[in-house]
Amino acid sequence: MTEPWTQLFGSATPVVGAPMAGGATTCALVSAVAAAGGFGFLAAGYKTPEAVAAELAELRAAGTPCGVNLFVPGPPEIDEAEFRRYARDIAAEGEPYRLDLADVPLTHDDDHWHDKIDVLLDSAVPVVSFTFGLPDPAALAALRRAGTRVLVTVTSVAEALAARDLGADGLVAQGTEAGGHSGTHTPRRPGPPTSTLPLVRDVTRATGLPVLAAGGVAGPGDVRDLVAAGATAVAVGTLLLRTDESGAGRTHRDALADPARTTTVLTRAFTGRPARGLRNGFIERHEASAPPGYPAVHHLTRGMRAAAAAAGDADRLHLWAGTGYRHATTGPAGAVVDRLTTAL
Ligand SMILES: Cc1cc2nc3c(=O)[nH]c(=O)nc-3n(C[C@H](O)[C@H](O)[C@H](O)COP(=O)(O)O)c2cc1C
Repeated sequence: MTEPWTQLFGSATPVVGAPMAGGATTCALVSAVAAAGGFGFLAAGYKTPEAVAAELAELRAAGTPCGVNLFVPGPPEIDEAEFRRYARDIAAEGEPYRLDLADVPLTHDDDHWHDKIDVLLDSAVPVVSFTFGLPDPAALAALRRAGTRVLVTVTSVAEALAARDLGADGLVAQGTEAGGHSGTHTPRRPGPPTSTLPLVRDVTRATGLPVLAAGGVAGPGDVRDLVAAGATAVAVGTLLLRTDESGAGRTHRDALADPARTTTVLTRAFTGRPARGLRNGFIERHEASAPPGYPAVHHLTRGMRAAAAAAGDADRLHLWAGTGYRHATTGPAGAVVDRLTTAL
């Protein structure tokens, strides 16, 4: 019998390298996960369409199948007055880097949505996943006609049913433990936080679709339990961040291993969309006043975060991490994939 993950991803094992935008996912990481029998997703978010095409070409030349993940753009969420108020609130955070945050213009963009869809249609990608909402029906239909399987990230049963009704081939069930941005379709009013295990169980039962579980995986027992709960495969992000092939920066890697960083929290202080990361000074100082407003708030803090990363300043950097971060190890990514399959 063909295993369900083999039908969906063509992989030998049900372990998936989750897409991680912002630099952590590299072609080398996707290749290493695939070489160990798993399946990796490239992260197209924040990149130019040309950069996405170049990564796909590199992996195709190496004979490595992969998925691609895209951010679904939403409507503008923040008005000028609210944006300016937050920009003034955080202005002092830019001063060490001579950045005038109070003056950063409000930028809303769609992350090159149409051009990236065109790249995916040209590249015959086997699997595409969408996060932050439902893709427009025309894009979804075009991808399916091109032979691509389309997954939609969901954080609740209601989102899962909406994705199924739209015609998604499968779902990424992302529990609240997940590192990085929540894929909630309603970032202004996210639903009650749901753990990955019950979410997988409920979404599988409600939709009957293949489900890729994501969020908080710390070891082989979690993979076993999620598969037993109905997951077709299990995605890991945080566990790969410190590996040799990860593109995560030094400041982020070191913070993940710093015993003084004792907890993760959901925050919108850095980008205006809820995301899980290690608690740090910026979050403590600004979470209470942070407005919803992705991607405008992302653009507002981007320069400060880049400067902080370069300076080794972990208190002004978004240290995305899921709840399993204590189990993120150094060494080859393939060893992480191997370890995760040992309880199956
Ligand atoms: C640094 C980082 C970047 C991420 N970027 C993306 C992304 O671009 N697209 C996406 O759908 N999810 C993104 N995520 C979420 C992951 O795909 C996945 O859902 C999550 O890592 C799973 O939880 P875990 O980190 O506890 O393993 C990101 C997560 C991290 C840690």
